[in-house]
Amino acid sequence: MGGRVTILDPSQHSPEVRDFEGSLLERLVGQDRAVRRLARVYQVHLAGLSRPGRPLVNLLFLGPTGSGKTRLVEAAAEVLFGDMSAVVKIDCAEFQHSHEIAKLIGSPPGYLGHRETQPLLTQEKLDEHHTDKLKLSLVLFDEIEKASDALWQLLLGILDKATLTLGDNRRVDFSRAMIFLTSNLGSEEMARLMTGQLGFSPRPDTGEENLDTRIYKTGFRAAKKKFSREFMNRLDKVIVFRALTRAHLEQILDIELRRVQERIVSSLTGGNQFVFECTQPARDFLLREGTDAESGARHLARAIDRHLVFPLSNLVATRQIQLGDLVTVDCEPTASKLVFLRQEKGALVAGQQNDVGGATALVMASDRSANTSRSLARRARS
Ligand SMILES: Nc1ncnc2c1ncn2[C@@H]1O[C@H](COP(=O)(O)OP(=O)(O)OP(=O)(O)O)[C@@H](O)[C@H]1O
Ligand SMILES: [Mg+2]
Repeated sequence: MGGRVTILDPSQHSPEVRDFEGSLLERLVGQDRAVRRLARVYQVHLAGLSRPGRPLVNLLFLGPTGSGKTRLVEAAAEVLFGDMSAVVKIDCAEFQHSHEIAKLIGSPPGYLGHRETQPLLTQEKLDEHHTDKLKLSLVLFDEIEKASDALWQLLLGILDKATLTLGDNRRVDFSRAMIFLTSNLGSEEMARLMTGQLGFSPRPDTGEENLDTRIYKTGFRAAKKKFSREFMNRLDKVIVFRALTRAHLEQILDIELRRVQERIVSSLTGGNQFVFECTQPARDFLLREGTDAESGARHLARAIDRHLVFPLSNLVATRQIQLGDLVTVDCEPTASKLVFLRQEKGALVAGQQNDVGGATALVMASDRSANTSRSLARRARS
């Protein structure tokens, strides 16, 4: 006697995991493989099927500098906990000497300073962001190739048995933690591979497969040479991040500009929210200033701060920009800075001029046609 037999679909993710994956893809450009892997691990955790006595996952991220390795972990924290700093982050370069390990695990009782040192890796720290629904921790060891031998020993224990013993013999349980390890191993050679064939302006998108494969091999070879087999065996996966193309960097610029706009809408109080939009020459300028073949998108946020956020802050503070204005950001092709044009009340929704409730009354730049801003810029130039 048995019930009806149906064929199941094991490829389906639950809505939470689909949301998680979708939100990560909105934040991280061009690294879909890494995002998909994370979504799978999250699904296993939510289903309660993670292996006991091991971290939820041990992932090693390799790849060019400024390609999103650290950003992925921050984005996961943002999506899961609404706070991109909800990550226990250990900069291995800071613990190169064995005596500095005390900062991580505290010193044994009786040692000088035993009570003063509040170790970084306690259970409380690990569980700090747990909620009733989500008991999961994100732990990031950055630049592991710089870790001291003592730190390696701790790391091996965490990766293998999901436990760490503190100086005072308390145990820390990592079985509900995703462990991310990043390394710059091979990144110099990767940079050479990338610049070798492009110079910057961005590499032609042809031959991309080939470059990615070569970058992958470079990373993997460097890791196998440097790290012990014992360590490599404890990893669930080595993920080599892709070199970003010009098209990726343009998308990242969009994301970063949107984040600035969100800040303008959410943090400017006193009713001086406004909308800005960048013309194509202004976008090209920011891309030129903030990205290059060797450092990917690493300097993009800084370039946006310097050339856009600082000037906008001055304009707001001196009341040259006011509530509901539309600010067009433009650039002459040969210029070394951006210019700002104000259209008074240009960002207000028609018919709501007298009733500005903040963000909802503003038309976001992305909703406008690019033509409007271009013609405004042309008008101001002539
Ligand atoms: N793939 C990406 N998608 C979206 N933003 C990115 C991406 N890569 C880099 N960025 C942007 O560039 C910044 C620097 O990237 P990130 O810190 O992740 O580099 P990294 O790969 O960890 O480099 P490093 O090896 O030097 O530590 C991020 O904060 C983010 O703003
Ligand atoms: Mg990093």
